[in-house]
Amino acid sequence: MRVGQSTLLGGIALAPLAMAGPLFHSRATADTGAYDELHRTAQLSSAAYTGCTGTAFDVTITKQINDVATDTQGFIGYSTSKKRITVAMRGSTTATDIANDVDTTLVVPSLSGVNFPSGAKMMHGIYSPWSSVHDDVISEVKSLVEQYPDYTLESTGHSLGGSLTYISYIALAQNFPGKSLTSNAHAAYPIGNEAFANFGAQQNGTLNRANNNGDGVPNMYVMWPWDFVHYGTEYYSSGTESSTVKCSGERDTQCSAGNGQVGVTAGHFSNFGVSMGLAGCSSSLL
Ligand SMILES: *[C@@H]1O[C@H](CO)[C@@H](O)[C@H](O)[C@H]1NC(C)=O
Repeated sequence: MRVGQSTLLGGIALAPLAMAGPLFHSRATADTGAYDELHRTAQLSSAAYTGCTGTAFDVTITKQINDVATDTQGFIGYSTSKKRITVAMRGSTTATDIANDVDTTLVVPSLSGVNFPSGAKMMHGIYSPWSSVHDDVISEVKSLVEQYPDYTLESTGHSLGGSLTYISYIALAQNFPGKSLTSNAHAAYPIGNEAFANFGAQQNGTLNRANNNGDGVPNMYVMWPWDFVHYGTEYYSSGTESSTVKCSGERDTQCSAGNGQVGVTAGHFSNFGVSMGLAGCSSSLL
């Protein structure tokens, strides 16, 4: 399936965000070493749009995620070359997905195996799709952990799939506390309040935010009346290794916080050198 640009999180426009002010920092540093990891997981995130079966690049797919009621899709599998067990979530392609993207009503989350602290609240538009697949994801990962006990865990996705990665990171860290975990949230908007983000930031693992130059989606919901908070380490790139920087804090003005964009912009459709939905399923095509 090919995904047209207008179908990915289309039609969302928010008021411009004031960019100046003492809360913003500018301390990004070059980090070309991060590119390969983020390019690879951008490919896997793209594959989640493409509907790959069998394999997605280096990942052998063992389960397709598909909840019809909430229109939640993705895949689970394993990579023998990376020795990782992979959870990849799809971004927005349908009206139901876009309704989730804008469903920012805060709810108190409850997920098996996760001990949320009191005060942590997340948006219903992410809680609803994730909670519909959470038990299936945990059970498939558990089965893969039994088969591949020396593999580490990873999760990824782009846009809505990136925001679902914020919660998959928490879900995996809490359910598999002894496992090394790396999650890469591409082009994600923040999904919860400060107490929620603090809980996300405390998890035992590595969470990266992988954002493209000129993409306004990471700047959604950070301002009043939402005041949602990101967590993880931001990396920012115009799609090449040489342009990749590691950002400082969640609102580094040399990264997405300073790009002057809010909502879905031209920069949203490509990420770390990958055109979302158009990259295919196999590295042999590249
Ligand atoms: C953190 O994760 C590592 C695996 O990466 C594990 O060895 C360690 O026990 C975990 N620490 C805690 C406090 O859960």
